[in-house]
Amino acid sequence: MTVGTACGKIILFGEHAVVYGRPALAVPLSQLRARAFVESRAEQGIVIHARDLKRDIPVNDSTVDDALATITRLTLNKLGVTGNLEITVESDIPVASGLGSGAAISSAIVRALAAHFHQSLAASEISALVYETEKMYHGTPSGIDNTVIAYEQAIRFVRGQPITAFQIARPFTLVIANTGIASPTKITVGDVRRGWEQDKARYETIFDDIAEIVARAQDALARGENLLLGELMTRNQRALESLDVSSREIENLIDAGMRAGASGGKLSGGGRGGNVIFYVADERAEEVRRAVVEAGAANVILTRLF
Ligand code: MEV
Repeated sequence: MTVGTACGKIILFGEHAVVYGRPALAVPLSQLRARAFVESRAEQGIVIHARDLKRDIPVNDSTVDDALATITRLTLNKLGVTGNLEITVESDIPVASGLGSGAAISSAIVRALAAHFHQSLAASEISALVYETEKMYHGTPSGIDNTVIAYEQAIRFVRGQPITAFQIARPFTLVIANTGIASPTKITVGDVRRGWEQDKARYETIFDDIAEIVARAQDALARGENLLLGELMTRNQRALESLDVSSREIENLIDAGMRAGASGGKLSGGGRGGNVIFYVADERAEEVRRAVVEAGAANVILTRLF
């Protein structure tokens, strides 16, 4: 049996505007992973067991319009192989929560299949394959999720441009709190698209504001001026609220975190549910964790960025 794994991701700054050509900063979330296991089987055909979804997906049935079946077909095509296979997938990453679960599961399948057939694929090739399934999940994805997950490194991402690394001069703790509400990215991305079509000037102004926040955040991270990050997160959150992708639950968690001493917070990913991130001085991190749990967070992760 061969195994492939892939990390989750966090967008620090710039979601949604990134779909419209603005930059965004994203980091891998390595402690949450998707895993895929591939083994040969005696029976004909390929089947995927999606453990968390409690579903079996027949890959050879081309009428099955499923992202996991699609990534399997695309990968086998890319590797120039075929076989009778059993693929099992499982993931620690909550679905539709802004942490890149779809891209992570697809990336894990690509890696496990490549390993099974003793081939290796570059991060850019994995990213390109996974992008095809991101279109099924997201409609019009920027490509940031598949990129940060396939490369598993902190990236500054601009649609259609080569990725660049960004520097974190002073390590810090990020508090990530899950609202517990599943919110498919496809819906919020689609709603932003409709809003943009109706009032391009207003939306473009918000996207420009987000681009400026991203530039300032990149600069603050590179200079080790971490105190600015909280303020910039809060400003980014306001811009996301004007795009109508926030929610009462997100704002409740942000309020609780701020009252407990976080310097700033914002939703991360598609919004209307999913996860909220906080910039917190190290000595306040535990207090913020407790406060967001009391305020109803379904799960809280503390991760160190460096
Ligand atoms: C989703 O993780 C981030 C969004 O900006 C969508 C995208 O970039 O494809 C909301």
